[in-house]
Amino acid sequence: MVDLNALLQKKSFSKEDLMLFLSLKDDEAKKLLNKALEVKLREIGNKVYLRGLIEYSNVCRKNCYYCGVRLSNNNVCRYSLSNEEVLDCAKRAMQLNYGSIAIQCGERQDRNFIENINTLIKQIKKLSNNSLGITLSCGEQEKEVYEKWFSSGAHRYLLRIETTNEELFYKIHPKDEKHSFQKRIRAIEDLIEIGYQTGTGVMIGLPFQEDEDLANDLLFFKKMNVAMVGMGPFIPHNETPLYKYKDIILSDRQRLNKTLNMIASLRLLMPKINMVAATADQSISEKGREEAVLAGANIIMPNLTPRKYRENYSIYPNKASLGDIPIEGENSLDKRMLSINHSIGYGFWGDSKAYTTQNEYKARQ
Ligand code: 5AD
Ligand code: SF4
Repeated sequence: MVDLNALLQKKSFSKEDLMLFLSLKDDEAKKLLNKALEVKLREIGNKVYLRGLIEYSNVCRKNCYYCGVRLSNNNVCRYSLSNEEVLDCAKRAMQLNYGSIAIQCGERQDRNFIENINTLIKQIKKLSNNSLGITLSCGEQEKEVYEKWFSSGAHRYLLRIETTNEELFYKIHPKDEKHSFQKRIRAIEDLIEIGYQTGTGVMIGLPFQEDEDLANDLLFFKKMNVAMVGMGPFIPHNETPLYKYKDIILSDRQRLNKTLNMIASLRLLMPKINMVAATADQSISEKGREEAVLAGANIIMPNLTPRKYRENYSIYPNKASLGDIPIEGENSLDKRMLSINHSIGYGFWGDSKAYTTQNEYKARQ
């Protein structure tokens, strides 16, 4: 018998330790989650920081087998926000005192797109007098493009690896030039080298995914020393190739529980990083994001995308934020966080303490 209490006191964890954490259920899982909460409160406190999410465009050149807005899905009504609409979202983030925004979109690598993102970064910096933090989540790009956006003022970048098992990677992506595991790793390394606060992450509960894969994912985050991680349950979308496996994967609740075990294990492994409570958590359970915060997450991304576009950004079905009006979202978010003894860090960038301690980064803290 393994002594869980003793294991939870350790300062470093082996793959076997992590696999054990991931397999925990019920009362034993609760012990892991409680320990992770204790570590989070001690290391980074009870504040939750916000990134106002702007779903800039669902136009995408890729064909990931899990994603509802993949290139080959012809049932998607494609849109891109105008620059004015993006700037309105940024202004809204300022009014709401969110501190940071995140621009997310499908992957494009054409000149127009690259220049447009660049212009937007500069305009947002200007209109907010440098006060809004800017996270980008715009896929794989050449290193020069990442550099350009960085010098224009973007300082965080999210690029999920999705899974670190290369074989599994090619079960959930086509194996071709556009979907290369090695290129994805290279892109994450480029972002780190340039100096972005870099975030990556994985989906949890994918078909054919084992606990050993997930433990390796956690060790990859640690090895890469990333500043941020976003992980959420895989949600089958009926217009995607992976939908056919919906009956062989874990149940919704089991995938959410596995996600909570992942978040808690990572909080023990990397106590100071920023970790997102994903919208996908809330899509599975009404209180999913609160559960994630109680398991060690400290970032929430309320949706600021104009309502008329939201249903078109359906990477997975029943996205929880579809109906959110920002102001309602914000109010209820305050109450939701208070109900679990957390509070929102309004007006702060909320940079990763892992990154700030390492780089003596002069952000507004
Ligand atoms: N279920 C859960 N997450 C998904 N993503 C894409 N499709 C799905 C899905 N069906 C996640 C991926 C991607 C991010 C933008 O959304 O991890 O990186
Ligand atoms: Fe495009 Fe991202 Fe969806 Fe893949 S996950 S198809 S890159 S939007």
